[in-house]
Amino acid sequence: MKSLPISRRAATASLLVAAIGLCLAGCGGGGSSSESSTEEAPSKPSDSIVVGFSQVGAESSWRTAETASIKAEAERLGVELKFSDAQGKQENQIKALRGFIAQGVDAIILAPVVETGWEPVLKEAKRASIPVVLVDRGIDVEDDSLYFSLIASDFVKEGEMAGEWLAEKTGGKAKIIELQGTTGAAPAIDRQKGFMNIISKHEGMEIIASQSGDFRRSGGKEVMEALLKQHGDKVTAVYAHNDDMALGAIQAIEEAGKKPGEDVIIVSIDGVKGAFEAMVAGKLNCTVECSPLLGPLAFRAIQAATTGLNFDKLSINEDRIFDRSQAEAELPNRQY
Ligand code: AHR
Repeated sequence: MKSLPISRRAATASLLVAAIGLCLAGCGGGGSSSESSTEEAPSKPSDSIVVGFSQVGAESSWRTAETASIKAEAERLGVELKFSDAQGKQENQIKALRGFIAQGVDAIILAPVVETGWEPVLKEAKRASIPVVLVDRGIDVEDDSLYFSLIASDFVKEGEMAGEWLAEKTGGKAKIIELQGTTGAAPAIDRQKGFMNIISKHEGMEIIASQSGDFRRSGGKEVMEALLKQHGDKVTAVYAHNDDMALGAIQAIEEAGKKPGEDVIIVSIDGVKGAFEAMVAGKLNCTVECSPLLGPLAFRAIQAATTGLNFDKLSINEDRIFDRSQAEAELPNRQY
């Protein structure tokens, strides 16, 4: 395992400060963002900052937007980014992190697929003095010094916002199918918790079936098809942990001869463009925003971590909620 000498780390840190400072003053960036496998050991320019980014995968349009935000910010700052797509597997993320550590990157950005199981590899990063910035999903560790900072949304609150909207829309009466995100992922756990916090206060609201669609449109469609066969006569609402699964469910509902957005009320989370288009078409009723545009803040955290500055342990995005009545006006403003 190779770690950067202190003097080199200090030198690269000040270069990052300079890059961020210059760009704050209005420059257009112009550095390079490279996409490379963590299996190889590509040569590292002696005078550039190198950041490893381990991404969950490309399961949703939200995820693609998050990847684009981080790559764009790296490029703007002239930071070399080593990108690794874990294809939804924690073991691939652990392997990627070990690869980054072996290559002596200056910092790591991790979007963790699940909450648990991170201690050993994060201890290795800590021993190598490589700061780890978590983006979008939190982790479950006893020692929170194993990561530098978490930049995310409040997933419990998002679930509560979805639940409150549905309770109001249905007058507190609904037979709900819940499409869960990836099992063990922070947004799946917390969005379920937040939603239950609200619907448990309404006697007339009941989850009649709940299954994971893995945050994928195909998963949402397949699960919805199967659950409609069992509960098609009862279901009045769908709560999807993300928009992509809701969009898949809409297809399944139409194929079953029902009208999504009318026969079945649908609320989901993310606020992607496709959800706004579906609301304009009258097929989706509501989406709770969850911003994937985390690149700028992630690199500010890295700047702080590599220069010894203070930075909030937790930075939370303010999320908004949109229903059909706002969709047409808001659609042109959507950035993802
Ligand atoms: O962690 C954020 C969630 O992961 C998004 O809601 C979802 O679309 C993504 O795959």
